[in-house]
Amino acid sequence: MSTRAPLLAMHGVVKSFGGAQALRGVDFDLEKGEVHALLGENGAGKSTLMNILSGVIAPDQGEIRIDGAAVRFADPRAAQAAGVATIFQELDLVPSLDVTANLFLGRELTRAGVLDRGAMRRAARARLEAIGFDVDVDQPVSELSVGRRQIVAIAKALSYDSRILVMDEPTAALTAAEVQRLFDVIRDVARRGVGIVYISHRLEEVPRVADRVTVLRDGEIAGTAPPTAPQSDLVALLVGRALAELYPRRSRVFGRRVLRLERAGYRPRRNRAGWRAPRDVSLDVLEGEVVGLAGIMGAGRTELLSTLYGAGGPGGWSGVVEVNDRPVRLTSIADARRAGLAFVSDDRRGAGLMLRDSVGRNLVASVLRRVSPFFLISKAREARLARQAIVSFDVRPPRVELAVGALSGGNQQKVALAKEVLGEPRLLLLDEPTRGVDVGAKGEIYARVRELAAQGVGVLVASSEMPELIGLCDRIVVLRDGRTVAEFPAGAAEDDILAVAEANQDDRDE
Ligand SMILES: Nc1ncnc2c1ncn2[C@@H]1O[C@H](COP(=O)(O)OP(=O)(O)OP(=O)(O)O)[C@@H](O)[C@H]1O
Ligand SMILES: [Mg+2]
Repeated sequence: MSTRAPLLAMHGVVKSFGGAQALRGVDFDLEKGEVHALLGENGAGKSTLMNILSGVIAPDQGEIRIDGAAVRFADPRAAQAAGVATIFQELDLVPSLDVTANLFLGRELTRAGVLDRGAMRRAARARLEAIGFDVDVDQPVSELSVGRRQIVAIAKALSYDSRILVMDEPTAALTAAEVQRLFDVIRDVARRGVGIVYISHRLEEVPRVADRVTVLRDGEIAGTAPPTAPQSDLVALLVGRALAELYPRRSRVFGRRVLRLERAGYRPRRNRAGWRAPRDVSLDVLEGEVVGLAGIMGAGRTELLSTLYGAGGPGGWSGVVEVNDRPVRLTSIADARRAGLAFVSDDRRGAGLMLRDSVGRNLVASVLRRVSPFFLISKAREARLARQAIVSFDVRPPRVELAVGALSGGNQQKVALAKEVLGEPRLLLLDEPTRGVDVGAKGEIYARVRELAAQGVGVLVASSEMPELIGLCDRIVVLRDGRTVAEFPAGAAEDDILAVAEANQDDRDE
């Protein structure tokens, strides 16, 4: 018989949204000093369960106990006051404020009644340093990459005097080295007695960070496992069926050259801290080819893709920039779309989707833009196009009229991809296309990307997940400091690619 209550006990939690049951009576507990991994496919109910714990939404039924005492949180503030800190899947930072202001939002330091900006900056810097990350505390969050924003959100959550820390996919945008640093921080926090709920789709992280694993499936507990359980066991619990081969077969038939960059660089009219302009990029993408972009955070992968898409801000290209063997300007999104480019950003919230609009509206937005901004599309045609896209990308639940914001993170990602594909691009630029996507859906996304390639689309894809690049791509180009520094054929070894990507950068710019 147990003599003391666990740090956290959630019991019989039920939640439905309209007709859909997101949680069907879930029990979940957490001990002091424990890292408890919570796994599940997209839409399994992980974020919903944690949103209930964090006071964001109220359960329909069920109870929460902390140290044995029943609690009920009216809002996130109440949960925070009770010691529950959360790093949300869609980070809750204020983009227009700088890093310091975000870290101290609502708990500003004052001296004699006035904001003590100096003290806050020092404390912010110390806090980031303590967890081993170097981020400019004066920079507006809107200018930070998704990975850096994740780091700020982590620092912010750690700064609460919390006893329970919820991390909803904290590593989705981090690279291998940063993930390791974060794990060191997590173990350190756990040693101090904090209980941590850790949500991730990266199964290989489980044995490295967790003490226990619980798997949710369709709103119910599918089972628990020790962290040392083989990945195949976890996958079986996750999906309840055997999975097909993750990576589709490559084709060897490529067509004409879609993209040619030869010593290409982009000079922005205004320098932005932390924004790594493409400086010396040489690469080709052929029709039917999937080319990978590897590199560490800050290497300039996102910048290269978004600048090709004409979203690099005021400035101009130098060197050779050709699409279908014709020189192009690519200094505005309109240019890029006219040239047949499409882009799926790694920042679903900022650039990709209109969360309050329906899935259908989001899906046809890019078709509309292709035809004409003033072109009107009949409701029936809109619904038909949207339904096709939903089926082909297996968006769940498959409902055209649902607001995108009501979809789980992984399903939002599928909508973001489907939307760009509907525009029938010749060159598809993908930035972290499977961020936050479960193993089953990953396979589906890879298959769709290959299908597009088979239809003659050229694909340029950046990812921090090296196995993904190796498994999916026909060729991998390594970017470092805004420059292409090496190229590897399909099936190259991860260590070889990493060695080049992480090589010391002696030639840091001014
Ligand atoms: N506000 C909402 N309105 C309607 N349905 C919702 C809402 N929030 C969540 N859902 C639904 O509840 C289910 C569980 O979603 P949840 O976000 O908890 O999944 P998840 O396990 O976190 O998935 P992911 O790994 O993709 O983030 C999904 O079917 C989702 O569409
Ligand atoms: Mg989620």
